[in-house]
Amino acid sequence: MKIPLFKIYWSKNDIQSVEKIIKSGKYWATGEQIEKLEKEICKFLKIKYCLVFNSGGSALFTLMKAFNFKKGDEIIVPSFTFIATAYAPLYVGAKPIFADIEEKTLGLDPEDVRKKITSKTKAIIAIHYGGMPCQINKLKKIAKEYKISLIEDVAESFGAKIKNKYVGTFGKASILSFCQNKIFTTGEGGAIITNSREIYKKAKLIRSYGQKSIKSNVDYITPGYNLRMPTMLAALGLSQLKKTNWIIKKRREKAKYLNENLKKNKEIIVFEQPNQNYYPVYQLYTIRVLKNKRNKLLKYLQKKGISCKIYFKPVHKYTAFKKLGYKHIHLPNTEKISKQVLSLPIYPEISLKELKYITTTIKSFFKND
Ligand SMILES: Cc1ncc(COP(=O)(O)O)c(C=O)c1O
Repeated sequence: MKIPLFKIYWSKNDIQSVEKIIKSGKYWATGEQIEKLEKEICKFLKIKYCLVFNSGGSALFTLMKAFNFKKGDEIIVPSFTFIATAYAPLYVGAKPIFADIEEKTLGLDPEDVRKKITSKTKAIIAIHYGGMPCQINKLKKIAKEYKISLIEDVAESFGAKIKNKYVGTFGKASILSFCQNKIFTTGEGGAIITNSREIYKKAKLIRSYGQKSIKSNVDYITPGYNLRMPTMLAALGLSQLKKTNWIIKKRREKAKYLNENLKKNKEIIVFEQPNQNYYPVYQLYTIRVLKNKRNKLLKYLQKKGISCKIYFKPVHKYTAFKKLGYKHIHLPNTEKISKQVLSLPIYPEISLKELKYITTTIKSFFKND
């Protein structure tokens, strides 16, 4: 049996939506589907403003500019993340300051964040790892206390909630990624979501060369870039978004099966919500493998045809950050947990037979080890 790490769920209407734009022979760049998708995302996540981009990274870059962060500013980020989160402050000359994670959600540890705050701190960028909401309410309190901005990186957690409030709506502004393995995808793509009109307006200018239309008169009022999403992808997004609640439901069912069948194993920690108010969406299904057995299990599963991957190696251990002088920093939980994590296959259409194969193969590894 061969089981991939992820498979995108698509149907005929995705093809029809894109086909319609192509066949129209016009507005492949600035079609009405773009604003329509933004409106639908606002409705879905219950937020005021949305701007779609050509990637999550472009959205992060734009937010750094829109917040006016600059040289001399410090921004607290996790090291247990995809590298884009930690690169973001660098885009505007600000300094990423790494904080550790906690074990319940694998998100930023609010206590360590508090310790990292200085007079130069301007913001915290929190991620919700693999679709699991982090302790965002605690981070929000800290941000308020120190009068700094809370930004959410929701790349991995579209549709996750705490008590019916979607992640991405706790901070001042957030980014989404629609890259291929995400809950909601357009292949590549991303967005900024916010309730702040000011951030929305600034970000909109940056996204499209600083262009502003006043009545029929176009003016360029500030230097900007082209970070726009093309119309075909917005059309694909509109048809994918209709399936997103179903996709989330399926992912949660699959994760439940894996949790129930793996959690008896004392050498594994499964990925479960810390309490009933948490509603994870399982963009990743990550287990923690104890007693230094992670790498051996990874090789064993790969040999048995089960794709699995390590999300994440600590960002501060990569060459790019070592070269910037982050060689000697120490984040005990991040370093320990990144040696334990293993992400297993999860996608809406993974069959019971495949799930059973994954759990029995893992059981056989521990039996024979
Ligand atoms: C936490 C996190 N932030 C940012 C990004 C960047 O998004 P994109 O790949 O769309 O640029 C990703 C994408 O994988 C991510 O996982």
